[in-house]
Amino acid sequence: MEQLNDKIALVTGSSRGIGAEIAKHFAKHGTRVILHGRDEASLGKIEDEIIRDGGQAMHVKADVTKFAEIESARSEIEKKFGPVDILVANAGGSFTKPAPFDELSEEGWRASVEGNLTATFLTVKSFLPGMKKRKSGNIITISSAAARHVTGRSPVPYSAAKAGIEIMTQQLAAEAGPFGIRVNCIAPEMIFTEKHRAMIPPEHLKGIVEYHPLKRLGETKDVAEAALFLASDNSSWITGVILDVAGGAVMV
Ligand SMILES: NC(=O)c1ccc[n+]([C@@H]2O[C@H](COP(=O)([O-])OP(=O)(O)OC[C@H]3O[C@@H](n4cnc5c(N)ncnc54)[C@H](OP(=O)(O)O)[C@@H]3O)[C@@H](O)[C@H]2O)c1
Repeated sequence: MEQLNDKIALVTGSSRGIGAEIAKHFAKHGTRVILHGRDEASLGKIEDEIIRDGGQAMHVKADVTKFAEIESARSEIEKKFGPVDILVANAGGSFTKPAPFDELSEEGWRASVEGNLTATFLTVKSFLPGMKKRKSGNIITISSAAARHVTGRSPVPYSAAKAGIEIMTQQLAAEAGPFGIRVNCIAPEMIFTEKHRAMIPPEHLKGIVEYHPLKRLGETKDVAEAALFLASDNSSWITGVILDVAGGAVMV
């Protein structure tokens, strides 16, 4: 994928999990990668790994729920690497537990909306003006299968926040298209990250595998491959798409 050579990509939330895999995958394809998160030790470890494998990387720290911190990370990136060509707004997560609607807490609701929808909005808001000025850019947002259909397994505040990211992505794609900017969204089903490896008892894995028509667990590389495709010119006629990376468990 030579089109990614020497492009500059920021992957938010790449100190671990899906984001770390996307960043490593991009670096292998010649992208200069900016890792992001809050955990300095993990960021340093992944940066060293990329550089050891012959890639180029730097890392920035910022709380993506705070616009001033994102802005300051952006100026650090622009000084050191240059303007961001590819933005993967991946940082997020499920910040509350599933519960019946009337037992959900206001705190859990606010944390989910803030940590996913607001975080994605603020991240894009910071990088979009530069892309518009340069008349090029590629933005990938991350939703979830939880926003695509009701399973009863995901907390409603998380599903609702991710569904908000999807319509925001499409609105943005329509608005930014005339500036040569593509905006797409990836909606993963459960992806077996190190966090899940530690959390899910092995006896539950068979049920998870069975749930997916493709009869295996989703891996971080499945999302990384989808991100690579959307970031490259191989998808140059694709914008405003919600791409289900779900082993067939979501068919919308
Ligand atoms: N794994 C799945 O099954 C799955 C399925 C569907 C969708 N997703 C979505 O995919 C994305 C990545 O998931 P994951 O499972 O890889 O998550 P993860 O392992 O929990 O990692 C989350 C990443 O986001 C960063 N982050 C979270 N909140 C942040 C904040 N306020 N400011 C800065 N960084 C923040 C974390 O950084 P620090 O820890 O360094 O702060 C970390 O790098 C999320 O948006 C998630 O909702 C995941």
